[in-house]
Amino acid sequence: MQSASQISMNQLLPLVLLLILGGSRADVNRLLLDQLNQVGLVNLLELATRPNVPRDLANYDFVVVGAGAAGCALAARLSENPQWTVALLEAGGVENIAHLTPVLAGYLQQTSSNWGYKSVPQKLSCLGMNNQECALPRGKVLGGTSSINYMIYNRGNRRDFDGWSAAGNPGWSYDEILPYFLRSENAQLQGLENSPYHNHSGPLSVEYVRFRSQLVDAFVEASVESGLPRTDYNGESQFGVSYVQATTLNGRRHSAYSAYIKPVRDLRSNLHIFTYARVTRILIDDATKSAYGVEFHYKNKPYTFKARKEVILSAGAFNSPQLLILSGIGPEDNLKAIGVPIVKELPVGRRLYDHMCHFGPTFVTNTTGQTTFTSRVTPTEVLSYLLAGNPATRLSSIGGVEALAFLKTPRSSLPKDWPDIELIMVAGSLASDEGTGLKLGANFKEEIYDRMYRELAQARQDHFTLLVMQFHPESVGRLWLRDRNSLGWPKIDPKYFAAEEDVEYLLDGIKASLRIMEMPAMQKIGARLLQRPTPGCEGHKFASDDYWRCSIRTLSYTLHHQVGTCRMGPESDPTAVVNHQLKVHGMRRLRVVDTSIIPVPPTAHTNAAAFMIGEKASDMIRSEWS
Ligand SMILES: Cc1cc2nc3c(=O)[nH]c(=O)nc-3n(C[C@H](O)[C@H](O)[C@H](O)COP(=O)(O)OP(=O)(O)OC[C@H]3O[C@@H](n4cnc5c(N)ncnc54)[C@H](O)[C@@H]3O)c2cc1C
Ligand SMILES: *[C@@H]1O[C@H](CO)[C@@H](O)[C@H](O)[C@H]1NC(C)=O
Ligand SMILES: *[C@@H]1O[C@H](CO)[C@@H](O)[C@H](O)[C@H]1NC(C)=O
Repeated sequence: MQSASQISMNQLLPLVLLLILGGSRADVNRLLLDQLNQVGLVNLLELATRPNVPRDLANYDFVVVGAGAAGCALAARLSENPQWTVALLEAGGVENIAHLTPVLAGYLQQTSSNWGYKSVPQKLSCLGMNNQECALPRGKVLGGTSSINYMIYNRGNRRDFDGWSAAGNPGWSYDEILPYFLRSENAQLQGLENSPYHNHSGPLSVEYVRFRSQLVDAFVEASVESGLPRTDYNGESQFGVSYVQATTLNGRRHSAYSAYIKPVRDLRSNLHIFTYARVTRILIDDATKSAYGVEFHYKNKPYTFKARKEVILSAGAFNSPQLLILSGIGPEDNLKAIGVPIVKELPVGRRLYDHMCHFGPTFVTNTTGQTTFTSRVTPTEVLSYLLAGNPATRLSSIGGVEALAFLKTPRSSLPKDWPDIELIMVAGSLASDEGTGLKLGANFKEEIYDRMYRELAQARQDHFTLLVMQFHPESVGRLWLRDRNSLGWPKIDPKYFAAEEDVEYLLDGIKASLRIMEMPAMQKIGARLLQRPTPGCEGHKFASDDYWRCSIRTLSYTLHHQVGTCRMGPESDPTAVVNHQLKVHGMRRLRVVDTSIIPVPPTAHTNAAAFMIGEKASDMIRSEWS
């Protein structure tokens, strides 16, 4: 569990220093990250972790497809039984110092650790993105999306899980899944040492981010002044405000790979991990509808692995449905259109939910030196972080995210203890990396950066942003395949803001954030709305309701919580793909274990749930085969 310290510092230091010294120049940054990712460190680390070379037609008890959050947890738990052999196949490579350093989170989307998906052009959202395509990043590396995400640790609301259970999924009520959240967690949270909602001996480290700006202190204080209670949003009640809890260990990213696999992989000869192995198809015996293996590409050559017990898809909310459809399990119209013989007709990809944000409002302040500009990181801070292991420098800031607030809007008819809106306090904006990372990652148009943020970056003007996120959207998207190319991209139409009501929720959230800005703690630091209208919305009176509605559809920013593409539900539910044991309906020896099974958007970011799903699935599989 000491991933960061195992890396030899003298290998990394020059690269990190270069990265930071080049912090204001996009070309230098990208070049360096490409280097980090493709040559130097990847190779060094791969040698260190002894990669496996696949043997064609090898037999395993379990073949797990995808080493993401859920896949790593599952493979680690299944391989605890030395009698069982487990193959874990991952399309990407391994983590390096860029992944481990939380402040660089935004840059990872510019590397080959991101699948780099984009939505089909949107009509009602993402108007501020090039070609109106929303960027849909996903992790492609050991650790999956948990290795490129923003590390916010957030489980969800009791009512989310009780709802799953009530919808015909026995075993998934809050009381039944809480033990699995706990089993995965190793919390080091000051003040919560005795909380029954936290465990201190699981694999996944959870801690408060130790670097804190004056801006976040003011935000938390102002939230309290506005009537919000301080809360542990992973505890008894979500409602309120809190400094962010993060999946980091001593200020380094703690991914699914670092937490679950790295500590055991050299100790378990029954767990075989393959990188750069891209699964292309599930092998299915048509007569018995049984999965018996997978086909995959490794170094441009096709291979086959056989599964004696089960094939388990943990390829994430886009790739698990893609693999099912490629293998003949999906909607009839899509399978016919692409010429894949139908094995089992199921509504794979028919539903796709996500959490949408408005990227803002942004507020400027009278403070100095508080906003996280990556180019503000000093060589002294780098030395302190890397050499002395100090977890409290700016480098441990999770991409600038510092606090979360969970709110109700007056619009909602949901129970009082079930939040509708989250405010994500970020000590920065697109200006934080001077346009070299976030802007590109989200596919923002150049003019958005130029007209709203460039000056903030040039002046190093302190500011912060409240991302306003809606938890329970009505808009439902869809994923399908355009052709049967197994190395291609699925088509993704998230249909954000197709339901107008979703925009109104975000408008309510923006208004709530403006009220917090009126509080004394915010006035004390001179916080005021950035007076730069969103390009395309100048026709509306600045900060009027219609202005915000326009801005919401323009600065549409997903927090990448896609769920529901292999929805869990009983066989009688025409929208369900897997049952409560995560078995694909009508199939044998085939499960989906990742966030694609989540039936409706939870009141949470989705990484913690992915770990919980992996943990719970391992118990279901164990009890079936032992
Ligand atoms: C930029 C970003 C920021 C985020 N920030 C947060 C956050 O702060 N907090 C939070 O809770 N959530 C966050 N999320 C969401 C969260 O990280 C994901 O929901 C979660 O990690 C998904 O876990 P998973 O196991 O379902 O899939 P993944 O972790 O995506 O794992 C899928 C794995 O399968 C592999 N794979 C896919 N297809 C194949 C194939 N054909 N063959 C072999 N391997 C394959 C992939 O490469 C990947 O490693 C963020 C997501 C993104 C993209
Ligand atoms: C804490 O985690 C460990 C390891 O996963 C587990 O054995 C233990 O049961 C967990 N404790 C609680 C209270 O859930
Ligand atoms: C913050 O700065 C602005 C602009 O210089 C000034 O008008 C305002 O009085 C300052 N507010 C505080 C609280 O210092």
